[in-house]
Amino acid sequence: MTSHTESDTRRTAVVTGASSGIGAATARALAEQGFHVYCAARRTERVTALAEEIGGTPLTVDVTSEESVAALAEVVGERLDVLVNNAGGAFGSAPVAEADAEQWRAMYEVNVIGLMLVTRALLPALKTSGAGVICNVGSTAGRIAYEGGAGYTAAKHGTQVVTETLRLELFDQPIRVCEVAPGMVRTDEFALVRFDGDREKADAVYAGVREPLVAEDVADAIAWVVTRPPHVNIDELVIRPRAQAAQHKVHRQP
Ligand SMILES: NC(=O)c1ccc[n+]([C@@H]2O[C@H](COP(=O)([O-])OP(=O)(O)OC[C@H]3O[C@@H](n4cnc5c(N)ncnc54)[C@H](OP(=O)(O)O)[C@@H]3O)[C@@H](O)[C@H]2O)c1
Repeated sequence: MTSHTESDTRRTAVVTGASSGIGAATARALAEQGFHVYCAARRTERVTALAEEIGGTPLTVDVTSEESVAALAEVVGERLDVLVNNAGGAFGSAPVAEADAEQWRAMYEVNVIGLMLVTRALLPALKTSGAGVICNVGSTAGRIAYEGGAGYTAAKHGTQVVTETLRLELFDQPIRVCEVAPGMVRTDEFALVRFDGDREKADAVYAGVREPLVAEDVADAIAWVVTRPPHVNIDELVIRPRAQAAQHKVHRQP
């Protein structure tokens, strides 16, 4: 683990939700591309281990807390090249008729408000870099509807619309605003978190899909998006496994 000092000439990146899945893979991919990565999430042990592995800086951050996000901005300091707003998730899969309001609030908090808080706090530093990039991790759930998904799809539609709005608002600034929207990605925790630790339900999401995307596939896409030349803005990149032609059209084999 190292901290970023003035003599360190590496470009810098903040990755939220870096303690698992897509965020951890993205932190590794960006470190491989030569970035000093600030690895941010709530689980301190995990971000500490990752930062040690990749020579980055661990940050214990709850993106839904203004205080916690202010502390993150303080550590990052005056200049930042890349922000990957990846922290997020789905909680529950009840139909609207049986929806849990707390779960819906929690999804909006992390996927929309958390993204706004981190972005707002780091915009000055991204501007200072002269070629900042924001990459928001959305979802194909931000483009369609599916039964039992309304709380999550509403939140991820929110991620997408905030991304578009920010791009309009920053049109004359040296900051690009991008979205990577994955379909089915088999990560260790996403479905387990959604189904409150129910392994059977979590495994059923990927049942019979020989090759869902894995975290490294999405990290590869994010790393590509944020390393284009400064005049190139990848507005949105939708990435799915070959087996998922559309949300409801998934090739499953026995
Ligand atoms: N897996 C998929 O199929 C899929 C598909 C499309 C989009 N996505 C999106 O991709 C992103 C990453 O998903 P994943 O599959 O990698 O899931 P994951 O392994 O569950 O990762 C979620 C990450 O978000 C962090 N996080 C959650 N709440 C947070 C908070 N309040 N403050 C800071 N960090 C927080 C978690 O860390 P801590 O618990 O340590 O805070 C964790 O590192 C999410 O935005 C998700 O919606 C996933």
